[in-house]
Amino acid sequence: MSFLNLSIIWLICFVATAATQTCEIEDSKFYSLKCQELSSLEEINDFPTRNLTDLQIINTQTKLTIGAANSSLNMPRLSFLDLSHVPRLELLSEGFSNLPYLMHLNISDCGVEQLLASHFPTVCPIIEFDASDNTLSVLTKDLLSKFSKLIFAVFANNSLTHVEVPYMRSLGILDLSHNNLTTFNITLGNCPYLKKLYLNNNKLTQFQITLPAEIVNSSVEKVFSLKALDLSNNSISELIENQFELLGELVILELSGNKISVLKSAHFAGLTSLRYLRLQSNGKLELREHTFEALKQLETLDLSYNGLEILSPHLFGYKQKDTQGLYEYLPMAHMRWLNLNGNKLQQLDSRTFEKLPFLEELCLSNNALRVLPEGLFVPIQNLKVLDMRHNQLTEISSDILKSLNNAKDLLINYNQLTTLPDLNGTLPQLQRMGIDGNPWERASFAQSEQWLIARKIQYLTDDYEFYSSD
Ligand SMILES: *[C@@H]1O[C@H](CO)[C@@H](O)[C@H](O)[C@H]1NC(C)=O
Ligand SMILES: *[C@@H]1O[C@H](CO)[C@@H](O)[C@H](O)[C@H]1NC(C)=O
Ligand SMILES: *[C@@H]1O[C@H](CO)[C@@H](O)[C@H](O)[C@H]1NC(C)=O
Ligand SMILES: *[C@@H]1O[C@H](CO)[C@@H](O)[C@H](O)[C@H]1NC(C)=O
Ligand SMILES: *[C@@H]1O[C@H](CO)[C@@H](O)[C@H](O)[C@H]1NC(C)=O
Ligand SMILES: *[C@@H]1O[C@H](CO)[C@@H](O)[C@H](O)[C@H]1NC(C)=O
Ligand SMILES: *[C@@H]1O[C@H](CO)[C@@H](O)[C@H](O)[C@H]1NC(C)=O
Ligand SMILES: *[C@@H]1O[C@H](CO)[C@@H](O)[C@H](O)[C@H]1NC(C)=O
Ligand SMILES: *[C@@H]1O[C@H](CO)[C@@H](O)[C@H](O)[C@H]1NC(C)=O
Repeated sequence: MSFLNLSIIWLICFVATAATQTCEIEDSKFYSLKCQELSSLEEINDFPTRNLTDLQIINTQTKLTIGAANSSLNMPRLSFLDLSHVPRLELLSEGFSNLPYLMHLNISDCGVEQLLASHFPTVCPIIEFDASDNTLSVLTKDLLSKFSKLIFAVFANNSLTHVEVPYMRSLGILDLSHNNLTTFNITLGNCPYLKKLYLNNNKLTQFQITLPAEIVNSSVEKVFSLKALDLSNNSISELIENQFELLGELVILELSGNKISVLKSAHFAGLTSLRYLRLQSNGKLELREHTFEALKQLETLDLSYNGLEILSPHLFGYKQKDTQGLYEYLPMAHMRWLNLNGNKLQQLDSRTFEKLPFLEELCLSNNALRVLPEGLFVPIQNLKVLDMRHNQLTEISSDILKSLNNAKDLLINYNQLTTLPDLNGTLPQLQRMGIDGNPWERASFAQSEQWLIARKIQYLTDDYEFYSSD
């Protein structure tokens, strides 16, 4: 009981010099402290800080200064330091180097312009570092070399123009998104455990994986363990051929919002584990035959808003050597989701989806399709969602409808349709349908409507969203 009383006394208040300056103990054993309006960490030295593991500082007006050369900090166990509510943080020469046990540091949105190697202890124990939303412009090799234990690093939303990544033994996640980078290179072997690399929303014109000279010709296994690479919203106009060959474990590749003009199979060579590929909004993209032939595991492919006028009937398919050593193109057994929204497709070859038999969701909306070739959907017997809104379709044949045996959602809103064929006996699995925005002939429409009502089909409006659920 006495223990509890003591903690309550501490909790009630610790009022120091400035009127608004307060510190609150968050627990009974002096492990965790929350302070307001501190101008230096030394100000809490009157506290029993030896046990302190967690410290959060919330300043609204006060500038916090850390790292004076004559600092007398006594926080040997401080492990979590959250300064993300300190809008003005000044780092003096010693920075955080007097906090020998600091493992989790959050200086997000602190107005910091520069981080120096001297700000951190020689053996830097930090494993999680969030320095997002500052005005950092450079991360040097010297600085990053200090972080041999760093696993989770967030430098998003700064003004970084230059980042040089040295050997970082433990690094698992590196977020450099929303900066000002024009080039970024990463050397194989430097970050052996890097799993996620975010470089989206920079000004990259190129991204390069380099191989150190000494391993180019060696027998060392050349693989990166990277699982997710986000290069979206940059200015990449060209991918380097065979660039991703070392990324055999990559699962997610984001390339949307760039200016890539041509893609062919050499650009994706080696991506044998890739499951999600997003290529939308690349302006005007040309896709060569067999572009995706290496992507054995591909599940989700977004090709929307690319100005595509034509799709090669040989675009899809997974390339494999048969027993006689000859190449053959096999069905892409994992492909489930394909988005072709917002292109300029006027027609499709009936073989287009031949190698995508397991596709479940297909979006062809906002194109200029007039007719659908007979047999187009026959190979895709698992198709559950078909979105053809905003095209120029004048007719949907009864053969087309008959091939949609598993369709649950069918959207044909905003086309030039006047009639539909007899729906009796078709679309056995249909649950929802969008039909508005067509110049329906009254009699035909009444018939279709009867069928929709009898089958208790739900209406889908034009604000339906086609998205992948990963
Ligand atoms: C610090 O922790 C130790 C061990 O848990 C405990 O004995 C000691 O009382 C704590 N010090 C304070 C000031 O609470
Ligand atoms: C450290 O030095 C500054 C001036 O150089 C002084 O104002 C401050 O009181 C000193 N702090 C300690 C803890 O000695
Ligand atoms: C850092 O603090 C910000 C704001 O409080 C928070 O959103 C962010 O998640 C924190 N970072 C980490 C790594 O916990
Ligand atoms: C960076 O800013 C963008 C846009 O303001 C925001 O969406 C994103 O969450 C921010 N990222 C971080 C890690 O703060
Ligand atoms: C990014 O770099 C450009 C020059 O390349 C510069 O004009 C711009 O101010 C920089 N932006 C930021 C946020 O630093
Ligand atoms: C990346 O490599 C290219 C070519 O090797 C070089 O021109 C560029 O300066 C490098 N960028 C950085 C940030 O190291
Ligand atoms: C690797 O080997 C090739 C030929 O086998 C040679 O031309 C090249 O210079 C070698 N590269 C290095 C870095 O040793
Ligand atoms: C890229 O930019 C677009 C349009 O500005 C935005 O909608 C999208 O969220 C951005 N992507 C990322 C990963 O920030
Ligand atoms: C469709 O079936 C219903 C009931 O089974 C029937 O009343 C209707 O006449 C049929 N429509 C056509 C066009 O055959």
